[in-house]
Formats: sequence, structure tokens, C-alpha cells
Amino acid sequence: MEFPVKTGAAASQRTECAILPVFEDGQLRGATREIDTAARGVIKQLVRKGDVSGRLGATTLIHRTQGTAATRWLLVGCGKHIEFDTRRLSSALTAAIAGLRNSGTKEAISYLAYGVGDGLNAAEAARHSVEAARASVYRFDELKSRSDPSPRLARLGIAATRGTNSAPLRDAIKVGTAIANGSDLARDLGNRPPNVCTPSHLAETARTLARRYPKLKVKVLGEPEIRKLGMGALLCVTQGADEPPRLIVIEYRNGSPKEAPIALCGKGVTFDTGGISLKPPPKMDEMKYDMSGAGSVLGAMSAIAELGAAVNVVGVIPACENMPSGRATRPGDIIKSMSGQTVEIINTDAEGRLILCDAITYARTFKPRCLIDIATLTGACVIALGHVYTGVFSNDDKLSADLIAAGDRALDLAWRMPVHEEYGESLRSNFADFANSGGRDGGASVGANFLSRFVDGVPWAHLDIAGVAWRANSQKGSTARPVPLLVDFLLNTERQ
Ligand code: BES
Ligand code: MN
Ligand code: ZN
Repeated sequence: MEFPVKTGAAASQRTECAILPVFEDGQLRGATREIDTAARGVIKQLVRKGDVSGRLGATTLIHRTQGTAATRWLLVGCGKHIEFDTRRLSSALTAAIAGLRNSGTKEAISYLAYGVGDGLNAAEAARHSVEAARASVYRFDELKSRSDPSPRLARLGIAATRGTNSAPLRDAIKVGTAIANGSDLARDLGNRPPNVCTPSHLAETARTLARRYPKLKVKVLGEPEIRKLGMGALLCVTQGADEPPRLIVIEYRNGSPKEAPIALCGKGVTFDTGGISLKPPPKMDEMKYDMSGAGSVLGAMSAIAELGAAVNVVGVIPACENMPSGRATRPGDIIKSMSGQTVEIINTDAEGRLILCDAITYARTFKPRCLIDIATLTGACVIALGHVYTGVFSNDDKLSADLIAAGDRALDLAWRMPVHEEYGESLRSNFADFANSGGRDGGASVGANFLSRFVDGVPWAHLDIAGVAWRANSQKGSTARPVPLLVDFLLNTERQ
């Protein structure tokens, strides 16, 4: 999809569809006002008669566009003018593109950020317009025998008032495009069924990225090498599965050679049945998203490689299935992690922390300046934060604040949660150093506490994305979160 910058006067721009903002107070602003003037007050009249709503996300398609060069106008409600920001712009544009879905429109111009006031930063608005538009046209139809024949929007002009310097807008569009490409990759991986998106498929995807971007170096370890490293925790999760595990290491070094890398560890459970502690059948199909942490690492690496960001990053992805079988780990088994610490497996469904603890120990061999793990770790985090915020658990105030700020800028929200050592009480074991699961209470923090035992003083943050990585119900599918947050974070460490 293309995103040309348009700086001409609104009324004389040729387009299949001009996307125009209307606000709840009924006052016409920016391009809506210019076009209304050229069309002798038609829009004003429609608004006055109540045919057009300014409610955020309401859309009205108009074909009689006399006096202007647009074939259609799509009036989009943008809510209250004083509250209008990039987040509302993004949801208004999402609604607009949904409103055009069945109209056959292949090209349009968005005027949502054109002269509507100083509340908006034009470059930020451009970046988020790209991300919102790309997310709206995304479809996952590679496994449908007939794909949807309706044409997709292929070109969206980003309008800015005359005299605007378009260079920063074009840069922002590049960033938005890279994030959208990385997000599409993460979305595809999350949406692919577990019989296609296996650990080997994740490894192949990493290799494909490395072929596309020469700065990315990929190493894939199989079971014998994983065993040689002493990763007993990762091995005990994969041992019930016939599908072989992979440890994927993906390096991008384009910052100062002296600078320690940022490590990203992404949980890559390509299907989580719970193992012998089997999950109940309802919604078990959703456990194909249990590799979303891994998908977000690959998506973020792809975006920074596309942008050529001046950073050093190493991604470590432990990938396996969690299956029950005669060879599967039993509750009560005790395993030895790569760190040397022993773990009593109380619940085989608390597998994410097991594969991650070995990935964290491995990532520490790169002497990272900070370590971020990303995981669909706990149902408890879904209960606590719903589908709105990613949970951030960290031993470092600055790292945590930087991640949350990146999430705010990226419209990919994150909220800090506690990792107090008392959350570790329930992990006490009489037989091993500690257990892999305690009670249900404070489950998200208990999971984080488990991981904290492997970071050994490195500035660390754990992102629990169990609630945000996928959408349930009719819109079911991967969201690609937190790719935007991670990319924004990495691009900002570049400038520091
Ligand atoms: N993958 C699940 C967490 C999850 C639950 C993700 C719901 C998305 C939606 C994880 O492996 C798991 O099963 N966690 C257990 C931990 C418990 C046994 C300590 C949980 O949350 O119930
Ligand atoms: Mn589980
Ligand atoms: Zn899991």
C-alpha cells in the first residue's frame, strides 16, 4: 500500500474519496471547511439537519460532491475537537476504511490531520495513519480456498496544508510502514494454525528475514545443541511433543560496536495444550497465539532492519510445543535449568516461564545492557488488565518508564505491575530450589517473580501480553502487539 503526501488545496485534489473529519460541536474545520465552501455549504447543511454525526467513528458516505475534485466524500466523526489526538485520529481512520470496505474504493486521501488544530503533530499523525490503514486492510486468507475478491484500498494520500515541509512526513511514513510490515509478519505468524506455525516454521521465518536484510544474522539450534547447553527447563516442556524444538538466535548489529546489545526474549510456544496439566477444551484453539512473544520479536527485528536503525539488538526465541504424551513431563518432576537452579514442576501448564528462564540465561551470555522478555505468560494478567494494557514487570525504573513511554507514543499501551519478592512465597518447594507455579492469587506477578530469579542483576523487563496479543470473538485474530511498542523503544534508544 502506498502513502503519498498531498499538500494541495483540498477542494481541487482529485481523488476517489476525500476522508473528511467532522467534530461533535458541528463546527467545520480544515479540509471539511474548505470543501464545504467550494460546495456552497452542503456539508454544513447535512450537519445541521443531523444527517452527519461527529461521534467518534461514525461515517457518512456522500456521492454528490459538486464544486470539488473528489468523486466521493467520506465524513468521519472525530469526537470532541479539544480531545482530538493521534489515538482518536487512528480510530477514526480505522472506521473510515471499514466504511469504504464494500465501496470498491482503491484510492483515497485522508484529511483527518489537515489543518484541524495544533493538538496534533503532523508527523506522528502520518505515522499512525499508515499503521491504522495497514491494519485495517490486513486480511488473513492464505488458507481460504477462495480469497475475498473485493478490491482493497491500495493508495492513501496523507494530506497536509500547503507549505508544510513534507520531508518529516515522508520519514514518519517510512517508520509507519516498517512497523506495519513487522506487524503483518507478527500477525501472520499468530494467525497461522499450529500445524503450520511450528517451531521450525518460526526458525524458517527468521532465516527468510536474514536473507532479506543482510544485517540480520540468524542461528538456529536444534535439540542436541539445546541439550548440550543444559537447557533442562526448555527440554522438559518440549519432551512430550513429536514436533522438534528450536532455539532461534537473531542478531542485528548496526549501532556502535562498543555498545552492549539490547536482548529480546520471546516466548514461542506454538501450541499450548497445558501438557499433562491439560487445559479444558473451550477456546483451546486460541493457544496457537502462545508464540506471540516470538512473533513480536521477529516483527520488531524486521522493522528495525528495514529502517536500518543504529542499534544493537539480539533476539532469543525458545520455540516448542507443550503437549501431553507418555513421554511428557509429569507434575512432580524436577528439572535442572541452564542456570543450574532446579525447578519442581507443579503444573505443566506453567510452561512459558520454563522455556523463557533458559532463554534468559542464554541471552545473558551476550552481556546485554538490558533484557526484555515478551510472553503470553498468564491468564491472571488478562484478568488484571483485560485487553487494553500490556503488563510491565521490571527491576529497573528507567527501563520500565522508557517502555511505557514508547507504548504511549506507539498507541500500544503498557502498565507497570509489581514484582515484589513476596510474590515468590508461593513458589517454595520442599524438593527443589523452587516450583514453577504457586496458587492463583497474583498469578501474573508470581510468573514475573519466577523469571526474575534468572536475570541476575541485568536491567530487565517482562512484558505479559496474554491479554493484548489476540482479539477474541468475531474479530478473532492476532493484533501484532507489542510490535509498535518494541520498535518505538528501540528507535528511541538509538537517539540516546
Ligand atoms: N499460555 C498460557 C497463558 C495464557 C492464558 C495466555 C490465557 C493467553 C490466554 C500459559 O502458559 C499458562 O497456561 N499459564 C497458566 C499459569 C498457571 C498454571 C500458573 C495460567 O495462566 O493459568
Ligand atoms: Mn500454559
Ligand atoms: Zn503458554
